[in-house]
Amino acid sequence: MRTTRLAMVGLGNVGRRLLELIQLKRDLLRARFDLELVVVGAADTSGAAIAADVLDVAEILRLKRERQGIATYRQLGQPGASPLQMVLASRADILVELSVTNLKHGEPGLSTLRGALSRKIDVVTANKGPLVLAYQELAALARANGVRLLHSAAVTGGLPTLNIGVRDLSATVIEKFEGVVNGTTNYILSRMSQGQTYDEALKHAQEIGMAEADPSLDVDGWDAANKLVIIANAVLHRPTKLKDVSVEGIRKVTQDDLRAAAERRETIKLIALAEKVGSDYNLSVRPTLLDRSHPLAKLGAGMMGVMYHTDINGTIFAAIEEDDPYPTAAAVLRDIVQVASETQAEIDKP
Ligand SMILES: NC(=O)c1ccc[n+]([C@@H]2O[C@H](COP(=O)([O-])OP(=O)(O)OC[C@H]3O[C@@H](n4cnc5c(N)ncnc54)[C@H](OP(=O)(O)O)[C@@H]3O)[C@@H](O)[C@H]2O)c1
Repeated sequence: MRTTRLAMVGLGNVGRRLLELIQLKRDLLRARFDLELVVVGAADTSGAAIAADVLDVAEILRLKRERQGIATYRQLGQPGASPLQMVLASRADILVELSVTNLKHGEPGLSTLRGALSRKIDVVTANKGPLVLAYQELAALARANGVRLLHSAAVTGGLPTLNIGVRDLSATVIEKFEGVVNGTTNYILSRMSQGQTYDEALKHAQEIGMAEADPSLDVDGWDAANKLVIIANAVLHRPTKLKDVSVEGIRKVTQDDLRAAAERRETIKLIALAEKVGSDYNLSVRPTLLDRSHPLAKLGAGMMGVMYHTDINGTIFAAIEEDDPYPTAAAVLRDIVQVASETQAEIDKP
């Protein structure tokens, strides 16, 4: 049995579900991969807990359930310790970065990722902030240090958008990528096409916890644009920043627009689009008319979907219905298993 030591930053919706999955899948991981995942350090806004051997996952979950900071972990809690201090002191094999997304300065994720990668620690993250702000820098840092930076959960959660593009289309030219990559706007547009006003649909999305109190990141198209930036960097091999994407949100879409579209057997979706023009891509996010027969037009309120149009792999469509963060946590677990398996394969090389 080989043991992989995890240092976790962020014990929120995704972090807690990942801890549950580590417990739930313990036997499967042992049987299938001969792999034991242990948590040796954890950090949240209160500070950190750092184990001499391992932390008790059930105890971390209990503390978070009772809304206590991880720094209150018996004997091992360290109030005020930074995420990077925790990662280094815990001598982790993998940093699992699941803290809050900040799109202005990327912190605390960006510093933690830089610190871990430069010390040759593999990284798995679902945090878009550092990737949107510094994708090329972080990828180069990982390459220079011979470590992995996996982030498949950062775009469309449990839907393997990045893995399809990076792994399954590696020898392909992608002529066009189009996706419904923001669940909140798809929910709002779907409800509007069923007769609700924009305000009613947004209010409902906020009531069920799908939209933030300040919904601008979603409804103005920025969340979808951030995802497109990561897709462009990771899949299209195009060094891309947010300023390269032309962005329009859904605030101006009216019920009349949706009604008129329906009369023409069309619908309106917020589409993130990368279209190949010469050797480059045009990148945009905007409300787009789609014929009802288009696979993305058929996505229901709780769904996201993507389409890759390629030169040699045909057209690939994938979709997910995701109404809680478990599929996102499952995508993080998949990345952890990949890093652990690749590390083991390197150790086993004759
Ligand atoms: N939720 C999803 O379905 C989903 C899907 C795809 C990607 N993501 C990404 O995954 C990440 C985690 O999402 P989430 O929904 O779990 O977020 P969340 O519930 O808000 O949890 C964020 C966690 O980060 C911790 N944190 C915040 N600032 C910190 C700091 N300065 N130092 C240390 N820890 C800090 C918080 O600590 P406290 O517990 O002390 O508040 C909390 O544990 C985000 O980057 C998000 O964008 C989420």
